[in-house]
Amino acid sequence: MREVDRVLLNTDAVAEVRRHTAQFAAERGRRPRVFVLTFGCQQNVADSEKLSGMACEMGYEVVTAPENAELILVNTCAIREHAEKRALSIVGQYKHLKEQNKGLIIGVCGCMVVQEHRREQLKKSYPYVDFVLGTSVLHRLPEILAKKLAQKRRIFGSEEENAIAEGVPICRESNYRAWVSIMYGCNNFCSYCIVPYVRGRERSRAPADVIAEVKELVAKGYKDITLLGQNVNSYGKGEAHGMDFADLLERLDAIEGDFILRFMTSHPKDATRKLVDVMAGGKHIAHHFHLPLQSGSDAILKQMNRHYDRAAYLDILDYMREKMPDLAVTSDIIVGFPGETDADFEDTLAMLQRARFDMIYSFIYSPRKGTPAAEMADQIPKEVSAKRFERLLALQEALSLAANEPLLHKTLRVLCDGASKTDTGMLSGRTEQNKIVFWPDDGTEAGAWVWVEIDRVAPFALYGNKVK
Ligand code: 5AD
Ligand code: SF4
Repeated sequence: MREVDRVLLNTDAVAEVRRHTAQFAAERGRRPRVFVLTFGCQQNVADSEKLSGMACEMGYEVVTAPENAELILVNTCAIREHAEKRALSIVGQYKHLKEQNKGLIIGVCGCMVVQEHRREQLKKSYPYVDFVLGTSVLHRLPEILAKKLAQKRRIFGSEEENAIAEGVPICRESNYRAWVSIMYGCNNFCSYCIVPYVRGRERSRAPADVIAEVKELVAKGYKDITLLGQNVNSYGKGEAHGMDFADLLERLDAIEGDFILRFMTSHPKDATRKLVDVMAGGKHIAHHFHLPLQSGSDAILKQMNRHYDRAAYLDILDYMREKMPDLAVTSDIIVGFPGETDADFEDTLAMLQRARFDMIYSFIYSPRKGTPAAEMADQIPKEVSAKRFERLLALQEALSLAANEPLLHKTLRVLCDGASKTDTGMLSGRTEQNKIVFWPDDGTEAGAWVWVEIDRVAPFALYGNKVK
């Protein structure tokens, strides 16, 4: 049964901060500004849209640069050491902003600060950081800000909770692509992963809340909606409503409108044939599946605590492809997990050849304090991991190109994202299969669907011309 509290935004705290921002506006002739910087995954992007949304509600104006902001919120990631180092280095750079503006409030939020040792480090070595706010208490931003505005003291308590906040305002970055969190946390404890420790136990939003949010987005004209969770296939587990992820997806697919539905991320041990059948029979569900494999060696998968082997993975993969021949499949791979032998790594390469992913996100294993893998014997030397990583990338590049070749001369439906960031004079967009497409700028607006005939394919992009 459901143990999780459904909490709402603290409106008294919002009103209190509002009084402060109104006074600021009266004195300064403008609203105070908030800058939100995001590290990490899509879940963090979605969380940051809530941080911005709450700040807006409290009277702040959202800006895109930290200079001249009155409030800076850094939403951090803890998945690999590199992400933490980058966040800490950026926070370090804000020291001089605080020196220029004593009234500046700096808050460090998200996964990194849930870890005791990082909170201590920020408290000791970053005296200009005013507060920390962990992932499960982001909806408490108004309370923390009200407290901070009323007193000088820094706020570094750990107040993690196992609740779901509904009704938190969201300031979305795009008006045609949207993220919808359907569940939070993770119970899987893969031995390398910090997520279960920093995002807490799995808890799902009520189906009615998710359905209402997606309906509202479709009504507003959103075209591409991604459902988010660390393991969406666990949606609804242990809840009284008895709806699993496939059921939820089916209900969302029934919503009328011109939109596509995506979801991330799936755990292979929980990806069901029922889900595949719903996808294959859906009207709106994108034929793209992100299914992290992590390793192609059964021995390593066991050490990773993944609860599937190569055979089980291929079984569900083959079923998906049988039901949806146009399906794009992407995956995550970790190289250099403790104890990974040359033979284990060759198994991973062999699995890539067999699985023929459209694309992979690949990572060199990064030990995370407090996880079982960090304590395992036989940590792999950096040079060995780096060499394996290079080989992995080279093989996948060839496989990605091969996966794109059948798309040559095809005409694909593309959701335009506006001007290309890399090629001037070109527009870019994404297909239902999430492939990036470039075509000459013809004035198409971001958020519009177009048809593009592909005349060149590369490993990670397609090129062509718009057809009328
Ligand atoms: N080191 C390297 N990669 C990791 N991932 C998770 N934890 C680690 C780690 N400690 C990768 C996994 C996961 C993706 C989001 O990040 O591949 O699927
Ligand atoms: Fe981490 Fe595994 Fe949970 Fe994914 S399923 S968030 S890799 S513990």
